[in-house]
Amino acid sequence: MPRVTVIGTGYLGLTHAVCLADLGHEVLAIDIDEDKIARAANGEALFFEPGLEPLLRKNLDAGRLRFTTSFAEVGAFGAVHFLCVGTPQGEGGGADLSFVNAAADALAPHLTAECLIVGKSTVPVGTARQVMSQVQAIAPASRQVDLAWNPEFLREGHAVQDSLTPDRIVVGVTSGRAEALLREVYARPLAGGVPLLVMDLETAELVKVAANAFLATKISFINAMAEVCEATGADVIPLAEALGYDARIGRRFLSPGLGFGGGCLPKDVRAFRATASALGVDSVVSLLTSVDAINQGRRDQVVALARDAAGATLDGTRVAVLGVAFKPNSDDVRDSPSLAVCDQLRAEGAIVSVHDPVAMPNAAKKRPDLVYARSVSEAAQGADLVLHLTEWSDYQAIDPAALARVVARPVIIDARCCLDAELWRAAGWTVRVLGRP
Ligand SMILES: NC(=O)c1ccc[n+]([C@@H]2O[C@H](COP(=O)([O-])OP(=O)(O)OC[C@H]3O[C@@H](n4cnc5c(N)ncnc54)[C@H](O)[C@@H]3O)[C@@H](O)[C@H]2O)c1
Repeated sequence: MPRVTVIGTGYLGLTHAVCLADLGHEVLAIDIDEDKIARAANGEALFFEPGLEPLLRKNLDAGRLRFTTSFAEVGAFGAVHFLCVGTPQGEGGGADLSFVNAAADALAPHLTAECLIVGKSTVPVGTARQVMSQVQAIAPASRQVDLAWNPEFLREGHAVQDSLTPDRIVVGVTSGRAEALLREVYARPLAGGVPLLVMDLETAELVKVAANAFLATKISFINAMAEVCEATGADVIPLAEALGYDARIGRRFLSPGLGFGGGCLPKDVRAFRATASALGVDSVVSLLTSVDAINQGRRDQVVALARDAAGATLDGTRVAVLGVAFKPNSDDVRDSPSLAVCDQLRAEGAIVSVHDPVAMPNAAKKRPDLVYARSVSEAAQGADLVLHLTEWSDYQAIDPAALARVVARPVIIDARCCLDAELWRAAGWTVRVLGRP
């Protein structure tokens, strides 16, 4: 079996390294962040991801997984190098490829024997070929260095399961040797029936951005329908349910509410729009401009509802915010819709207290001046308004009668459309739900 390295140990890279080790590979993972490497080597998952930490420890103990900060060690160790560094939003909305370029520059001088670099980061179409020439210009064994692109589709909160048993494995290759090596790396999931789709580099890069653009479009579509419901008194929940029964449409990614956030969909939509603009593909530019605008509009809509519920002004209103993670089962607050709503509330003079089961330490790094409560009831103490902004299952288990006793006014806005409104109303709450009468 080829020895494998993983470059970048963020949400994607650490999960990938742990799961490859669990598939039986010898894995060496590297990051430029020495603190992350020390903690991971010590068995600490670097972020909240169900099931990841036990698997990390198991594979450290088995000796299949190691961590380093030395690219020389990585170059000497691996026959397959997975590139998993970040591709955040750059100026003008396009992807910032500086981490990809820096990682390729750092690795290339140490490639002295036949090997395969496999990009997993989400990148604009054309990046793979550019990285290939960049590496081949520097690598001592340049003629023996091959490159493939193998986009990743894992979902935070389900990352381990998605990595071990993905819906499909997509690989963009330029040689039979690259395909054969990737078939070896993924032998176990392939033997378990996971489909392998082999294509050219450009198409593989595009599959990932197209998938994210489609998912974002689906969310913004149902949120646009929620706007129609808000204007007409119709109810978006049975509407979504009825649409979802149509096998051609499907129910998933059709949950109305506050819209998408996180480290992937928003920046991937904007990066794809920037690529389409550079290519002159106006249809994609206008589609994705609308998708993004609808999504941002949901944040404004929650604030408008809050203003209305507070009696025209938020100035001096005490607001308890439930949830700051961009989605449940994650501590990721990158482009968190909840934090954006908190910013708007505070800009209008509201006094905001927030709670989240796991994401408060990350939120505190970005918004150190927010008030963080240790429990839901502490956040809601004396509140005029409660906002449900991330759909953690903990919040669906809240006893509305008990919470009614600690607030100043029992008014809640459910921006994720998943609380049992009748139960809350029965306990004396005024309940407003995005997209529902
Ligand atoms: N997070 C997800 O759910 C997910 C899912 C699919 C695809 N992706 C894609 O995967 C890529 C990584 O995303 P992420 O969420 O893991 O980002 P992240 O910011 O959590 O992790 C990136 C890591 O790369 C490290 N790094 C940066 N430069 C480096 C270098 N030169 N050498 C070694 N390490 C370096 C950083 O220190 C960081 O630990 C992005 O392109 C993203 O779009 C992410």
